[in-house]
This record gives sequence, C-alpha cells and structure tokens, in this order.
Amino acid sequence: MNGKTSTVEAISATDLLRGDHRRIKELFRDFESVDRETKNYIARTAIEEIELHTLLEEKLFYPAVEREVEGCEEILSDSREAHHIAKLIIAELKVIPFGDRYHAKFEKLADTVTDHVDEEEDKLFPMAEKSDLDLHQLGLEMAHLKMRAVAHRPYLRERFRGAGKTAAFIALGTVVLAGLGWLAASRREELVGR
Ligand SMILES: [Fe+2]
Ligand SMILES: [Fe+2]
Repeated sequence: MNGKTSTVEAISATDLLRGDHRRIKELFRDFESVDRETKNYIARTAIEEIELHTLLEEKLFYPAVEREVEGCEEILSDSREAHHIAKLIIAELKVIPFGDRYHAKFEKLADTVTDHVDEEEDKLFPMAEKSDLDLHQLGLEMAHLKMRAVAHRPYLRERFRGAGKTAAFIALGTVVLAGLGWLAASRREELVGR
C-alpha cells in the first residue's frame, strides 16, 4: 500500500458525511439522557450540525451525485424532501420557547433525520461509491466549505473550543491536509508519467 491509498480514504466525501451522521445521532441520544438545561445546549448544537451537514449535501454532494450517478433521481428527490421537512421543523424550533412542546418537536426532528440518514447510508452512499464520482476531490471541497461554515455557527464553534476542541478541527484539518497531499501526489505522478 502506498501513501496515496491511505490519504484517499481519509478524504472520501461519503466518509465525511457518515462522520456527520454519527455525531448527529450521538446528539439525539444525548438529548434523551441529559438534564433540562443541557438538553437546550444539545438541541441547539444538533440543529447547527444538521444545518451545516445539509448545506454540504445540497451545495456539493447532491449536485455531484446528480451529475455522475445514474438512477439516483428518486432517492435524491426523497432526500431533498426530507431536508425540507427538517428545515420546517427547525424553523419552528427557532421561534418557540424551550419547554415540553420544544422537546416533542425536537424528538420529531430526530426521528425524521434518523430515517433520512439511514436511507442515505443504505442506498445513496453505496450508489455514489460504486460510480466514477471522484469522492476524494469532492470530500476535499466539502471539508473546506465545512471549515468556513463552522465559523458562523456559535454552538459548533463552542463545541470545538471545548473538550473536543482541537480534535474536531485537527480531524478536519487533517482531512484537508491529507487531501492537499493526495492532490500534490497526483500532480507529481502526472508530471513524472507514473
Ligand atoms: Fe441528507
Ligand atoms: Fe446526510
């Protein structure tokens, strides 16, 4: 195995999205078990994670899949609809007070998002992974967008600044650096004719 293989794996767009899914599901689980005050923090953090993840998929991942992966129209249409429903629930959560109704609505959001991410992982991601789509280049673009977008989301910024601080940024930075390394290696191979 050469260095290229391991860095390529590190920046796959689908791996990056699976990592988001995992964190979002963890926040949903945490929401169930923490005290009322912490629930507020967990819910707002989860909402920022979902919004950021949705941005990456709608701006970069879905359009790339739409261009390159045959037969994905129906699942992309379902996915966009699921995003739309999540956005409607989030819009309501942003204007209602934190209390029993908020909890019930947040749990509805958790159910909707969980069903949707399971469908992406079961159907859409495997289709993308079997296609000729360059998931490593796409992963790099997504990691860059994610790093820029985190700066505008106070709860995620705070989360990164806390215990996981640097783990999150370092992980993301590693992805980007790995991607840059991979691109440099590809260029080098092109120049030397492999
Ligand atoms: Fe999605
Ligand atoms: Fe997703």
